[in-house]
Parts: sequence; C-alpha cells; structure tokens
Amino acid sequence: MTRIMDIHSHILPGLDDGAEDMQESIQMLDQAWRQGITEVVATPHYSFMYPNICPDRIRTLCREVQKRARQELDADIRIIPGQEIMYSEDVVDLLEEGKLLTIGGSRHVLTEFRPDVSYSYIFRAVKDLVFAGYIPIIAHAERYGAVRTAGRVEELRGQGALIQLNSRSAGGKWYHDTTRWCRRLLRKEMVDLFGTDMHNIRERSPETKSAVEWMKKSLKEEYVERVLYKNGLGVIRGFRNSSQ
Ligand SMILES: [Fe+2]
Repeated sequence: MTRIMDIHSHILPGLDDGAEDMQESIQMLDQAWRQGITEVVATPHYSFMYPNICPDRIRTLCREVQKRARQELDADIRIIPGQEIMYSEDVVDLLEEGKLLTIGGSRHVLTEFRPDVSYSYIFRAVKDLVFAGYIPIIAHAERYGAVRTAGRVEELRGQGALIQLNSRSAGGKWYHDTTRWCRRLLRKEMVDLFGTDMHNIRERSPETKSAVEWMKKSLKEEYVERVLYKNGLGVIRGFRNSSQ
C-alpha cells in the first residue's frame, strides 16, 4: 500500500470542530491507518472562533492520541503537532512568541484564509511570512477563488509558498470544477502536500482512496510519492516526540 502522510487534520479531541472525544480520534485514525496513512499532523484551528488553543495542550494531546492509537489499533502511527492558522497581521508575532505552532517545530506554517479573500491579501500574507523566515503552506488551496485564476499558483510558489490540496477535492467526480482544477494542478506538478482535513468519522472522515487511485493512474510514480509522503517527511525532518 502507498504510504501517506496527512499534513492537515483535526484529529485531536475536544479542541476545535474536529474529533469530539478520544474515541472519535481513534476511530478516525483507524480509518486513516487502513488507507496507508502513517504520519498525521494534528492541525487544530487558530481563528476568531478558536483563538486560545494552548500549544502545550496540543503537544500533550498528540502524545496521548499517539499512545492510545498504538495500543488500541496496534498501529505504528505518528501524531505530529501543528496548527492551521487563519492568517491575520499578528500571526508572525504570535509565531515568534511561541503562541502558535508551526508544523512539527519546523519553519512551515499551515496557513488558511477566508474563502472570499482577495488575491492581494494572500500574496501579502505569503510575503510577510517568507520575510519573517517562515514557509507558508497554503491550506486547501482549491478553496480560494482568488488562487484559482491562471498564473497565481505559479506566482505564490515563486514567492516561496507551498500548495496543499485536500484529498476529498482531488478525489471528487471528474466533472466537478474543483476536482478538475485540482487535477490540472497535479498534472502540472504544482501541488506540494496532501492532507485529508479530516474532522470526524462521518462526512469529513479521512478519505483518500479516490484521489490516490486517480493520482497513481494519471501521474508519474516519483511525483505521487513526493506529494503523498516524501515532501511531508521533509517538512517534519528533525521532529521527535517523547513517546517514540
Ligand atoms: Fe482544516
């Protein structure tokens, strides 16, 4: 089975609109593990709805969830702390102060925006983060109309941003606009990272099968391995947690 790293998930219990409790976290991980996901970055929201999630709480919960998953599922799965950060002008300061988390202690920041945001706002956010020494990962890039205009993904990547797509979007029906856009981008090898953005075990469960099948059928093997696993591994290089 193809090994997958999930760079974007709401797996931690009781923090945001993701898993409600530990039982749901483990059920989500069970579904993920069966699809070949061996590394999961936990990325609870930082946004106006969830302004106060403590980084230490995220780190502790990652260790607890990993321990439970290894015991209950007998799954050699790693849970890596991170955050999905709704960009605002104070984000760089909060990162510097350690009040927000990068991905696994790296310089990579999973960055999201409101869906109707202007392109100039995204462009400025990328420049600000890069100037401060971070590498912004545009979370579910397919969600922003402003990014879907021709030439803009190229420009953002040229500025130093990385592009993450949600597996569900890439794995949709071929005639859906969003799926078609995702697949065009994948064909051009302009996608860097893959995430499930899993929130629960129902309508936002970890679902990768359809996207992975299409990728294997349509793209170069070496690129598929990079998007599904190797690029993510590069992001978390150096990360260790105490329960390993
Ligand atoms: Fe998310």
